[in-house]
Amino acid sequence: MIFCCIVDENNVPLPLTFTRIFKHMESNIKSIGILTSGGDSPGMNAAIRAVTRAAIFSGMRVYGIYRGFRGLVFNEIEEFQTNSVSNIIKQGGTILKTARSEEFKTVEGRKRAYENLKKHNIDALVVIGGDGSLTGAGIFANEFNIPVVGLPGTIDNDLNGTDTTIGYDTALNTIMESMDRLRDTATSHERLFFVEVMGRNCGYLALNSAIASGAEAAIIPEISIEKDQLAELIDQGFRKSKNSSMVLVAESEVTGGAMKLAERVKRQYPSYDVRVTILGHLQRGGSPTAEDRILASRMGIAAIQAFQENQRNVMIGIRENEIVYVPFKRAIKKEREISDELLEVLRISSI
Ligand code: F6P
Repeated sequence: MIFCCIVDENNVPLPLTFTRIFKHMESNIKSIGILTSGGDSPGMNAAIRAVTRAAIFSGMRVYGIYRGFRGLVFNEIEEFQTNSVSNIIKQGGTILKTARSEEFKTVEGRKRAYENLKKHNIDALVVIGGDGSLTGAGIFANEFNIPVVGLPGTIDNDLNGTDTTIGYDTALNTIMESMDRLRDTATSHERLFFVEVMGRNCGYLALNSAIASGAEAAIIPEISIEKDQLAELIDQGFRKSKNSSMVLVAESEVTGGAMKLAERVKRQYPSYDVRVTILGHLQRGGSPTAEDRILASRMGIAAIQAFQENQRNVMIGIRENEIVYVPFKRAIKKEREISDELLEVLRISSI
């Protein structure tokens, strides 16, 4: 059973209008292309599998496009069958490879991409990626009148109109496991650790992994814009009586990153035993969690359903466990607002 709704400009879901079983419906779209773009995220393969199988189930042809938009520009396109996506649900990364394409940023590049689509008689595109990828997809769709549906594939969870993104849960769990290990050594040495995590300009990964790992604080861009979070933590005596402290830092120019924050603390408190860990790209790898596999499967099937309902230029999102269609413009509008409730949970639980 698929439940679906559309969110309006203010992110408010419009009332549910239908409930139905997925079935083959007549559509003008006979053939789709699928690509992954931008940073890889765990669960992208599960999404590729679901899109492929749902398209074939609906009588469409499916083409895998390698290396994101670059592959579209350079015609790295291959027809997929159901067994092209066998046994990939458990694999991290993306079998289609990914890239950040400079060529696609030019009109000439996009024109070549369009010509390659026509060469293969591809009527529509499914793009799996983050905000940059969906921005590019939206421009391409408008320029050449190509129906495009996006799936939010990013560990950053920084897209609007969806509660979560494909890969976010796995990355969160990876960070939590790393934090648990770091806590052992921090406690043994009675150290203060600054641990830097990804997220681009979004603090969700840092905030939620701080809660999940029992960290003392999270320094995130959304709050750092307004105030000097580190100064506030120092004023509050953030080491308190604890013999180890862990501070999650979201990578960003706004937070300054873990290195700079640690240097500031060392200058002010030379006696503190401070260490820095930057988790880096290990956060993007690994087998996806059950949650990400299920999310990717639901979203992948919803993408084909969206085409059958003549939707275009929408991202598949999930809100309150229901699939929603989010117009690209809304999805990529601006940074997501951070939840006050989550900030409060961390503040109270870390006293
Ligand atoms: O968007 C995903 C992401 O991992 C961000 O969190 C990070 O800032 C960026 O990609 C890193 O990009 P790259 O893999 O190109 O270094």
